[in-house]
Amino acid sequence: MLKNFWYAVEFAHAVTRSPRKVTCLGQDFVLYRKRSGDVVCLSDLCVHRGGALSMGKVVDGDVIACPYHGWQYGPDGGCVKIPANPGGRGIPKKARVDAYPVREEYGLIWAFLGDLPEDERPPIPHFPQHADPAFRAVYFEMEIGANYERTFENVVDASHTPFVHGHSFGNPDKPEIPDFEIVQDSWHAEADILLSPPPAKGLWKRLYKEKPEQVVVTNGWYLPNIVKLHVRLPFGDLILYDHNIPLSRDRTLIKIVGYRNFFTGKWADGNALKRIEKILLQDRPVVESQRPELLPFDLSDELHIRSDSLQVAYRRRRRELIEAGWWVGDDDVVTGDAPRRSATVIPSPARRDNPELARAWQHKARGAPAEKEQA
Ligand code: FES
Ligand SMILES: [Fe+2]
Repeated sequence: MLKNFWYAVEFAHAVTRSPRKVTCLGQDFVLYRKRSGDVVCLSDLCVHRGGALSMGKVVDGDVIACPYHGWQYGPDGGCVKIPANPGGRGIPKKARVDAYPVREEYGLIWAFLGDLPEDERPPIPHFPQHADPAFRAVYFEMEIGANYERTFENVVDASHTPFVHGHSFGNPDKPEIPDFEIVQDSWHAEADILLSPPPAKGLWKRLYKEKPEQVVVTNGWYLPNIVKLHVRLPFGDLILYDHNIPLSRDRTLIKIVGYRNFFTGKWADGNALKRIEKILLQDRPVVESQRPELLPFDLSDELHIRSDSLQVAYRRRRRELIEAGWWVGDDDVVTGDAPRRSATVIPSPARRDNPELARAWQHKARGAPAEKEQA
């Protein structure tokens, strides 16, 4: 799992003034809205006895209270009140949780999970359809019992569609993938791929005058975990942004925002969501059965052919980021796995911004470089 990226952790419409737990990179976070409407993201792990802040309450304006002994934390993660302390007793410096930068874009809440200063952070990708009134969006999610890099690569992989999605999306009679060219920068890669669609079914049949021989599908990835699938149908565009959120080493929450510029009435949302669900239900058993469960680190541990080149580009770029120290290991995941005696958290920017606070954190930071800094 890679730290130092903006992760879309929740749909914006699901985040209110009430605390909401979300999970990413094997760590729980609490989200809530301030009175201003801005969203706060804190580590969900109270430093006192590890209570879940998400089970607490937002009190006193923008402050969240732990449900266990009522310690209160401000939006910057600093503890502002310890109810058991008699009046006048100070609050220990270590009484603080990590607070993560938040942005709200494209109907999603993005949290920056890492400690990079603002000007060094990789960008949130640009999804131009969101601001275009010709498009309508649907929001879909599903949990899958597989590692997020397996589910991520699956959507970048055009050559499985005739087999896993035969008759719904792929065409089993036309499995060849013509060679394609990849356009790539530091954070993103994509390619236009020619696919042969199967005959249209259901609602879409109404729009098909004649089945095209081939459709252009723009398929690509944005680091760390987003896949774009832009299908140019003869009657319009369908664009899916598929977020593969690592809940734990072996569980992934897929969140998809799907845009279409045909059948843009609300009445067709159900059909659009059903099509997405059908495809994911076809993928699920396949990715859950892949072995090894985790994506190998070494390119030579699996066999690649020309049509796998988007995945190979991802694995190469991932290798560079691992070398830069952005990988957070599986050994210290604090959620979803076995019971533990220690807890570590993804380091937040405040750890770098305030060197005088470097020793003020109760929970140790995950990831080697931040740990070295602290030592
Ligand atoms: S565990 Fe949170 S206040 Fe005690
Ligand atoms: Fe698939």
